[in-house]
Amino acid sequence: MLIGVPTEIKADERRVSLSPAGAAAFRTHGHRVLVQSGAGVGSGFTDREYRGAGALIVRAPGEVWGRADMVLKVKEPQRTEFRYLQPGKILFTYLHLAPDKRLAHELVKQHVSALGYETIQLEDGSLPLLAPMSEVAGRLAIQAGSWCLQSRSGGRGVLLSGAPGVRPGKVVVVGGGIAGLNACRVAAGIGAEVTILDVNPSRLRYLSDLLGGHATTVMSNRATLEEEVRQADLVIGAVLVAGARTPRLLSAALVARMKPGAAIVDLSIDQGGVSETSRPTTHGRPTFVRSGVVHYCVTNMPAMVPHTSTSALTNATLSYALEVADRGLLEACRANRAIGWGLNTYDGHVVHPAVAQALRMKVHSPW
Ligand SMILES: NC(=O)c1ccc[n+]([C@@H]2O[C@H](COP(=O)([O-])OP(=O)(O)OC[C@H]3O[C@@H](n4cnc5c(N)ncnc54)[C@H](O)[C@@H]3O)[C@@H](O)[C@H]2O)c1
Repeated sequence: MLIGVPTEIKADERRVSLSPAGAAAFRTHGHRVLVQSGAGVGSGFTDREYRGAGALIVRAPGEVWGRADMVLKVKEPQRTEFRYLQPGKILFTYLHLAPDKRLAHELVKQHVSALGYETIQLEDGSLPLLAPMSEVAGRLAIQAGSWCLQSRSGGRGVLLSGAPGVRPGKVVVVGGGIAGLNACRVAAGIGAEVTILDVNPSRLRYLSDLLGGHATTVMSNRATLEEEVRQADLVIGAVLVAGARTPRLLSAALVARMKPGAAIVDLSIDQGGVSETSRPTTHGRPTFVRSGVVHYCVTNMPAMVPHTSTSALTNATLSYALEVADRGLLEACRANRAIGWGLNTYDGHVVHPAVAQALRMKVHSPW
């Protein structure tokens, strides 16, 4: 198969869908790789490194899209990329079609076979291509939160690690899933006092076993949440209710009773946010202050660390992309149900039931 890797054009997006090591893996499997010149620069990968891995470098995005059998991307096609969509092409990327009817219609109209990273699903229901970005965002949340707590950012001037003879800061992580656990580990690692809340008892048991004496686990309910949040220097919102808007667990009144200069990093903002006071922000203007509390609500945090994010993403996507290239799309979907769940549109139809339901479109089975 001929694999195409275009430069990402979405604002602030510096990741690339394939690292040079990934390109070498496709070559080893007997496939060819076309990379748009400069596609890897934002992630620290040069054209030379891709050439060294056996890829061909081309200048025009149209050439990558036009020649490739399967286009690997990071973000969903942008409006200016719609003209490259052609019948029979395989597109493998984060699609998030449910809220994007226009893109769904375009993929259907152009008979594109579109696989969404976010709907690749293992038998236990887990989403292996979403996990790496939650891991990165969770770890970043402590970095971002530390910055928010500095006085120049409007924060209360607390160093999370404390200092000899001075107490560390208190971090409260709401939601102990993948992002929450990763935030917790980094916070505990720098010596902060950490509490993690969740509503799932078995998850709390797992976190307690894993984190031992490095963090306190607490069953989340209105009373415990309120108590913890009021004492916090930094609150991390990391709740997810699959397929639904995040519940607004922090009321505006509770935020107003937080310590002056405390901070909230609301990772869940991409699903609506855990706080009534949260609204999406950008990398250009990541924070705002409300009720004296610094809010950080960037919806695509992993884009801040493209070198790490690209490698983490490629590590996770590569085996699936190789399987599609080796077996062909339909055979790969049949042989590996996880890939089958990834298929969103095929041959002029929406084929993923949840996506069709969200878009109020008819679902067709490709089998
Ligand atoms: N902003 C970003 O750049 C970015 C990047 C990656 C992920 N995210 C977001 O981070 C959030 C967390 O993702 P994840 O992969 O860790 O999800 P996850 O499913 O692994 O974990 C979510 C956790 O929330 C818990 N939960 C559900 N309801 C709760 C409640 N009422 N109180 C406390 N806990 C509750 C669940 O039990 C679960 O353990 C998601 O909204 C995801 O989209 C944001």
